[in-house]
Formats: sequence, structure tokens, C-alpha cells
Amino acid sequence: MNPTILITGGAGFIGSHVVRLFVTKYPAYRIVNLDALTYAGNLENLRDIEQAANYVFEKVDLLDAAELERVFQTYQPDGVIHLAAESHVDRSILSPLDFVYTNVVGTVNLLNAAKKQWANSFEGKRFYHVSTDEVYGALGETGLFTEETPYDPNSPYSASKAASDHFVRAYGETYHMPFVLTNCSNNYGPYHFPEKLIPLFINNIINNKPLPVYGDGLYTRDWLFVKDHAVAIDMVYHKGKNGETYNIGGFNEWKNIDLVKLLCKLMDEKLGRTTGTSLQLITYVKDRPGHDRRYAIDATKINRELGWTPSVTFEEGLSQTIDWYLQNTEWLEHVTSGAYQQYYEKQYAS
Ligand code: NAD
Ligand code: DAU
Repeated sequence: MNPTILITGGAGFIGSHVVRLFVTKYPAYRIVNLDALTYAGNLENLRDIEQAANYVFEKVDLLDAAELERVFQTYQPDGVIHLAAESHVDRSILSPLDFVYTNVVGTVNLLNAAKKQWANSFEGKRFYHVSTDEVYGALGETGLFTEETPYDPNSPYSASKAASDHFVRAYGETYHMPFVLTNCSNNYGPYHFPEKLIPLFINNIINNKPLPVYGDGLYTRDWLFVKDHAVAIDMVYHKGKNGETYNIGGFNEWKNIDLVKLLCKLMDEKLGRTTGTSLQLITYVKDRPGHDRRYAIDATKINRELGWTPSVTFEEGLSQTIDWYLQNTEWLEHVTSGAYQQYYEKQYAS
């Protein structure tokens, strides 16, 4: 029998790339995309594949346990790739409980639905939880997060993701549910919601709006092109060992201010503006509370055991990303209308 895979959060940024990869690469699989379509979920992200014969969409909230059970009974998935989450750190500071509900309670609801459906046998089944490097806390000037780094989450977002990781491992230990888990660094690329640093700044440069750099701008993130993350997820889903964790990262650390300066340079070139024009938009603003100083991933294990390595350089990926946003202004206009404006005013009020 051909496998059915349930992908949650498939209408979001990373999820849409994962759904696209699985639907096109595995025509014999049935891919069920389960998503509540929150502000971050958008079916426009999947227009090119939504008519595919092996693709089904289900609008379901992870908090609706009965609906989750119905989806499991209807499709009887062999595997779950769980990406649905509240994903933005600044929103978690404004509204922590939303993150507890979706990321913690929602994940446990999903685990329960899978456990019930797979009660007869876990043979050939797999629960894959997609998580973040933020569970490890903050690094100083040196060092890398490995799979052995102790959890030390600092934001309500990372605390909720850490809790969901613990629940997945607990279901593995307690009920013997087969699982794999990955913790990935910062993604960037097409369909990234413009509340996150790179798409927010691209959108603001297009519209000649200030670029709000938090604090001293010397915070460091490790950036990975989203399509490389999707490839890693495919490898871990198919070849990862049960009960294992794999860290995923780009070996690509950038201080925020250096990244913003590179972005300004590329945007000026692509928009035909005089060099230095976008730099003038940089505005230092008050810092994010509890801002983690540095993240950096040691991705040696996934490289050594599964042969995964990033394929796109940062300059190539960033250039492709900017081109995508410049060619998809309608998408940007749709996602930045309505509620986005209220969020923006609240978050960036001085
Ligand atoms: P996103 O915010 O772009 O998308 C989240 C998706 O989940 C949306 O489609 C949304 O509609 C859906 N969703 C939210 N609440 C839901 C609910 N209650 N029920 C059903 N669906 C719901 O997020 P993303 O950036 O694509 O991240 C996807 C996953 O990867 C998350 O679990 C996140 O923690 C993790 N992650 C993200 C990054 C990153 O850099 N973006 C890095 C590492 C890990
Ligand atoms: O590390 C993985 C995580 O990366 C994911 O788990 C999260 O879902 C994802 O949102 C991302 O979290 P960050 O907080 O690192 O990403 P964000 O784009 O919000 O911020 C990146 C850096 O830029 C961070 O140091 C804060 C800073 N920043 C961000 C915004 C939105 C600014 O200086 N100004 C801004 O306006």
C-alpha cells in the first residue's frame, strides 16, 4: 500500500515547501495537509500544487481533538510530519497563552490522535516533530548547539516548543510511539511571513519604511534556505533513526546588522536605487525582551549519518528570496492587509 502522510501546518512558510516537495517528489504517496489557516497560514502558498491528485487539504485546528480523530480515521496516515505552530517570538511575548494552546496542547492532541489510530500496532508508523534550535537557549561568543546541549529556553515561544519536544519524547518512552525530532536554525526564503526579520525588511525597503533593528544589532543567527530545510525533513522522515534528534543548520552565522546591510545593498541593486539608499532606513529601536544573543547549530550528525548538507549559499538564497518578493507583490499585499497592520502598530510603537 502506498503511504499516506499527514503534514500539519502545510499552509505556513516551511510547511508549504515541505508539502510541495512531498507532493511532487512522491506522486504515489497521499499527502494530507492539516492546517487551521491562522494569520500565518495561506493557501496561496500552495496554488501550484493544490490540484495534484495525491494532495488533500483539511482545515482543522489542533485544539479540536474530535476533528483530529476524524482526520486520522478518514485517512489512516502512516506518518505525521508536525509543523503547525505559533512561530513568532515577538507575538509570544505579547500573547504567551496562544503558544501554550497551539504548541503544547495542540501537539499533545495530535499525539493522542496518532496513538489512538495506531493503537493496534506502531509497525511502519512515525511521528516527526519539527522543532527549533531556540529550545537550547542562547550561546555566548563561541560554541555550537549539538544534540546533547541541555534545554534552556528563554522566550514563551521557545518554552512552548521545548515543552512540545518533551511531550513527543515522553510518548516515545511511555507508549513506545516511534518518533524523530529535528531542531533547526533560522529559515528564510519565499512565502516567509513579513513579521520575521528578512521578509519584514524586504517589504519595508520596497515601501521606503524604517528598518527596526532591535538593540545594538549585534545578535547572531544561523540562516538556512527553506528549501534546504525541506530536503533535510524528507531525509529525516525517510532515513532518520527512531527516537533520534537531528540538529539542522546552515553553518551560516550573521550578526543582524551585517545581514541587514547586505540586504540593503542587494535591494538597492535590484530596485535600481543609488547605493546606500536603503541603509538610510536603518533605525535602532528598543530591544526584544529576553533577546537571545546568539544561535549557531552544529549539523555534523545529520551530515554524517544521513548525508545532508545545505546546497544554497547565503548570497544565492538571499538573492532568490528578494527576487521572489519583487515578483510576488500581490502575495505581499494580501498578507500585509488587515490584521497585519494592527500587529505592526502594536509591535513597533515607540
Ligand atoms: P508559520 O507561522 O509560517 O506557519 C505555521 C502554520 O501553522 C500556519 O500555516 C498556521 O495556519 C498553522 N497553525 C497555527 N496554529 C495552528 C493550529 N492551532 N492548528 C492548526 N494549524 C495551525 O511557521 P513556520 O515558520 O513555517 O514554522 C513551521 C514549524 O517549524 C514550526 O513548528 C516552527 O516552530 C518550526 N521552525 C521554524 C523555523 C523558522 O525559522 N521559521 C526554524 C526552526 C523551526
Ligand atoms: O532559530 C529558529 C527560530 O528562528 C524559529 O524557531 C522561529 O520560528 C523563527 O521565527 C526564528 O526566530 P527569531 O526570533 O530568531 O527570528 P526573527 O526573524 O523574529 O528575528 C531574527 C533576529 O532579528 C532576532 O535577533 C531579532 C531581530 N529582529 C527581528 C525583527 C522582527 C530585529 O532586529 N528587528 C525586527 O523587527
